[in-house]
Amino acid sequence: MQIEKRVRDSKVETVHIVRPNHLNGANRLFGGILIQWLDEVAGIVAKRHAMTNVTTASIDNLRFIQGAYQNEMVVIVGRLTHVGTTSMEVRVDTYVENKSGVRKPINRAYFVMVALDENDKPVPVPRLILETEEEKAEWESAQKRKEMRTQRKMEGF
Ligand SMILES: CC(C)(COP(=O)(O)OP(=O)(O)OC[C@H]1O[C@@H](n2cnc3c(N)ncnc32)[C@H](O)[C@@H]1OP(=O)(O)O)[C@@H](O)C(=O)NCCC(=O)NCCS
Repeated sequence: MQIEKRVRDSKVETVHIVRPNHLNGANRLFGGILIQWLDEVAGIVAKRHAMTNVTTASIDNLRFIQGAYQNEMVVIVGRLTHVGTTSMEVRVDTYVENKSGVRKPINRAYFVMVALDENDKPVPVPRLILETEEEKAEWESAQKRKEMRTQRKMEGF
């Protein structure tokens, strides 16, 4: 029987404080550091779902909406939106959270993670159970992005 898992089974939330060593020359959070944090979250989401090693196949729609500054609290939330045969799309949202707990979105990205077997070959992942209307809508959008990525790969742009 094929294993099925819910979106909430692999959801991940992490929190970072922006330190001086995370800043770029303009005194904002350095994009490369943020991408590292996002990739780690996407990797944990995918590992929790697949229960195997995973690798990052692509990152897209990486949209920097606003910057983050020293001592700010950066909250990163990752959740699965779609699974293919061996690939998983993880939506990763980043927020700056203020003292009152209000979250302001600063970034959104979509990671495609691929599950790997012990020989580093792609291996099938559990099916995804969609429990809410939002999850169903996310799946539809993710399906379109998957088709666009396949097209881009075929056409080499
Ligand atoms: C990702 C990787 C395992 C895919 O290998 P591959 O030989 O292309 O495997 P396949 O053609 O069987 O594709 C496997 C899955 O990955 C998806 N995929 C492959 N290349 C992709 C890309 N560029 N973007 C999005 N998805 C991709 C395929 O659609 C397929 O998904 P599905 O099984 O759900 O339909 C391989 O390209 C790789 O190892 N890349 C390097 C990854 C890495 O080192 N990441 C860290 C970067 S520092």
